[in-house]
Amino acid sequence: MASLPVDQQNLHLFHNMTILVTGATGFLAKLFVEKMVRTQSDFKRMYLLIRADDISSANKRLLDEVIENELFRVVGKLGAEGLRSFISEKIVAVPGDIRSFDLGIIRNDDSNSNIMLHNMFTHIDIIVHSAATVRFDERYDTAINTNLKGAMNVLSFAQRCTNLKLLLHVSTAYVCGEKEGYILEKPFYMGESLNGIDGLNIETEIRMMEDHLSELKVKKANEKKITLAMKDMGMQRARKYGWPNTYVFTKAMTEMWLGQWKGDISLVIMRPTMISSTFKDPFPGWNQGIGTINGFILGYGKGKMKCLAFDPQSICDLIPSDMVVNAMICAIIVNMKQMYLRDTIIYHIGSSMRNPVTYGCLAVSLFKYFTINPWVDKNGPEIGEQSNFFINKRKHSRTT
Ligand SMILES: NC(=O)c1ccc[n+]([C@@H]2O[C@H](COP(=O)([O-])OP(=O)(O)OC[C@H]3O[C@@H](n4cnc5c(N)ncnc54)[C@H](OP(=O)(O)O)[C@@H]3O)[C@@H](O)[C@H]2O)c1
Repeated sequence: MASLPVDQQNLHLFHNMTILVTGATGFLAKLFVEKMVRTQSDFKRMYLLIRADDISSANKRLLDEVIENELFRVVGKLGAEGLRSFISEKIVAVPGDIRSFDLGIIRNDDSNSNIMLHNMFTHIDIIVHSAATVRFDERYDTAINTNLKGAMNVLSFAQRCTNLKLLLHVSTAYVCGEKEGYILEKPFYMGESLNGIDGLNIETEIRMMEDHLSELKVKKANEKKITLAMKDMGMQRARKYGWPNTYVFTKAMTEMWLGQWKGDISLVIMRPTMISSTFKDPFPGWNQGIGTINGFILGYGKGKMKCLAFDPQSICDLIPSDMVVNAMICAIIVNMKQMYLRDTIIYHIGSSMRNPVTYGCLAVSLFKYFTINPWVDKNGPEIGEQSNFFINKRKHSRTT
C-alpha cells in the first residue's frame, strides 16, 4: 500500500474512506484535495470527477492541472517518488460532467466505466460537491444546468451510493443576497424569495429558460444573441425575486432543491463568503483563477480598474481559502458519524465577526502590494499611476 512519509498532522480521520470530489481542477476543491493528501493520507481512495471526454484526458488534466500545480510542492517534497505511487494508487480521475445523469461517467456503454461506476456506488463514503459556474452574470441556461441540475445529479448519484455517510455541498454566503446584519445558518424553504415576492417555482424557472432558448433557436438567433439574451434573462429572473445576480440566485435555488429532495442523505451545506488566497496552508498566498474577488484584484493590479465603487468603511467579507478547506474537513468529521441527519446542516464561513476587513483596508493593501510587486506581463511591469489614482480617489469621495 503506497504511503507518504507524511506528518504529525495525520489524524487518521478518514482512515479507509472513499471520497468523491467534484470541481478539483478549480480553486477550492484543488486545495481540499491537497490538504487531504498531505494530512489525511490514509484514506482509501479519492475519485476526482473531471470534465474530460475519456480516461486518458481526465488523467492528463489530473496531472497537469492538479498534481503538478505549484500547490502540491509541499507534499511533493515529502518524496516525489512516494507521491507518484500514492497518486496512482489512491487518486482516480473520472471523466464526467455534472450536467449529465450519473455525472456523465458512462460513455458508450464502455465496460470499464460500468465497473468504475459500480465501484463508486459501492464504496463511496463522502461526496464533496464543489463544481459550479461562479460567473455572476452567467447565461441562465448554463447556470441552471451546471449549478442547479448539476447539484441534483450529484444528489441522485449520492442516493445510489449504498455506503454514503455524507454529502457536502459548497454553496455561497451570498445566497442571502444583499441583506445586512446577522444572517442565520438556516436552510431556505421551497419557493422562498429574498424580497417577499411570491411565486418562485424552480420547475417554472427551468421551463421558462428552456422555452426562451428554443424560441431563440427557432428564430435562428446567432450564438452571440443567444448568449446576451440568456445572460439578460438570468439577471432579470434573479432580480425579480431579490437576488443580485444569476450566480447567487441559482445557488439559492440549488439549496432549496437539495433540501427538498435529499431524503435520507445527510446533507451539509457550506456557505463561504469571498474566498481569498491561502493564509498559511500549505504556504501563504496561493490562489487561482479570476472568479469573484480575484477578478477585481486582477483588474486593479493590471491598472484596468480605475476606481473602487465601495464605501471604504464597509466590511468586505474575505475568507482565506485554507480556512474554508479546514472548515469543510471539520464539517465532514463532525457530521459524518451521525447517520441520517434529518435536517440540512448549514455553515457560514466568513471573517466579518472575528476579523473584519474594510474595503478601505483592502484598497490600501492592494496599493501597497502592487507598488512593491507591480503586475508583470509579457510587456513588462504594468502598474504605477493607477495605484496612486486609486488611493487619491478615495480621499475625495466616500464611494469611489
Ligand atoms: N471562489 C469564491 O470566492 C467562492 C466563494 C463562495 C463560494 N464558492 C463556491 O465554491 C465552489 C468552488 O468555487 P471555485 O472558486 O473553486 O470555482 P472554480 O475555480 O471556477 O472551479 C469550478 C470547478 O467546477 C468544475 N465544473 C464546472 N462545470 C462543470 C461541469 N459541468 N462538470 C464537472 N465539473 C464542472 C470546473 O471544471 P473545469 O476545470 O472543467 O472548468 C472547476 O473544476 C463553487 O461551488 C462556488 O460556488 C466560491
